[in-house]
Amino acid sequence: MQVAVVGATGLVGSMMLKVLEERNFPVDDLILVASEKSVGKEITFKNKTYKVISAADAIAKKPAIALFSAGGASSLELAPKFAEVGTTVIDNSSAWRMDVTKKLIVPEVNAHVLTKQDKIIANPNCSTIQMVVVLNPLHKKYKIKRVVVSTYQSVTGTGVKAVTQLMNERKGISGEMAYKYPIDLNVIPQIDVFLDNGYTKEEMKMVNETKKIMSDGSIALTATTVRIPVMGGHSEAVNIEFSIDFDVEEVKNILHNTKGVIVMDDITKQIYPMPMHAHNKDEVFVGRIRRDESQPKTLNLWVVADNLRKGAATNAVQIAEYLLEKNLM
Ligand SMILES: NC(=O)c1ccc[n+]([C@@H]2O[C@H](COP(=O)([O-])OP(=O)(O)OC[C@H]3O[C@@H](n4cnc5c(N)ncnc54)[C@H](OP(=O)(O)O)[C@@H]3O)[C@@H](O)[C@H]2O)c1
Repeated sequence: MQVAVVGATGLVGSMMLKVLEERNFPVDDLILVASEKSVGKEITFKNKTYKVISAADAIAKKPAIALFSAGGASSLELAPKFAEVGTTVIDNSSAWRMDVTKKLIVPEVNAHVLTKQDKIIANPNCSTIQMVVVLNPLHKKYKIKRVVVSTYQSVTGTGVKAVTQLMNERKGISGEMAYKYPIDLNVIPQIDVFLDNGYTKEEMKMVNETKKIMSDGSIALTATTVRIPVMGGHSEAVNIEFSIDFDVEEVKNILHNTKGVIVMDDITKQIYPMPMHAHNKDEVFVGRIRRDESQPKTLNLWVVADNLRKGAATNAVQIAEYLLEKNLM
């Protein structure tokens, strides 16, 4: 199978290549695309060297599948051109997520809605993916009324430029800034741009994408998204109010039996997930599972995942695996 990776030189693109290789996805021919400045650059995949080519040359090759992580503008321009030649596009940007004609997929939650007609499939925002993997089985059992989430997000979520900013600051070098403010020894309560309602775009992505993925517009959700000087993954403090009451041990059991979730929760041994545990792992980690004592039927938990893996590359490759397994391409 011909597989294209668009944005192959970026943080997510590089991780996609790693995940495709690790999971032994059946790649017969790999097509690598990045911006014009990277055309000709060499990248090794499964001990073979490939050259980055232009998007136009890649489209001419009519790949079966294209994994996109090249930003929203490139996706809006290029994804329809790939789809037109029969390629199934799985896109990591926010370009298509809220388009009513496009599916927004987290395989553990809603892969079953995919059909052969879906030629552009959207991968959700990284913070949303790790949260819905945990919310979904609990929603099925106790019906969620409202979620309050605060995030602690890794600089890798912003791409290569932000990692360089953090590393430069640690070495005392001045260089290009991905953020308006220093990130080392700091916390920035802004991810993406501010909207008219006073929330950031990232916060509203969590609100709107959650409802779409879980097919339930009645779930109330409010988010505060925050960037911290961490590399291994995103963490989230999640407060969930249910319609019916729960037993904490039963919640732990449900999560323990949920595909893609690892429960790390033993406060007697100070065991709880941190980005250092999630880093380079494909699963979503959950801990600090406890009742909110301030109001009934409400749970607090702590969710951590590697944003470049489950939050981006792994989720996209899992969608591709599902399409292949169900013969939907
Ligand atoms: N980082 C995350 O955790 C995360 C999670 C979910 C989704 N995403 C989304 O994934 C996308 C990429 O993120 P990233 O963190 O990997 O960013 P990045 O490290 O800055 O990489 C961006 C990639 O896009 C390529 N690109 C830029 N303009 C292009 C064009 N016109 N045509 C083709 N390729 C082009 C770049 O190529 P050059 O090297 O040639 O410039 C590079 O390969 C973004 O849409 C982001 O929102 C990121």
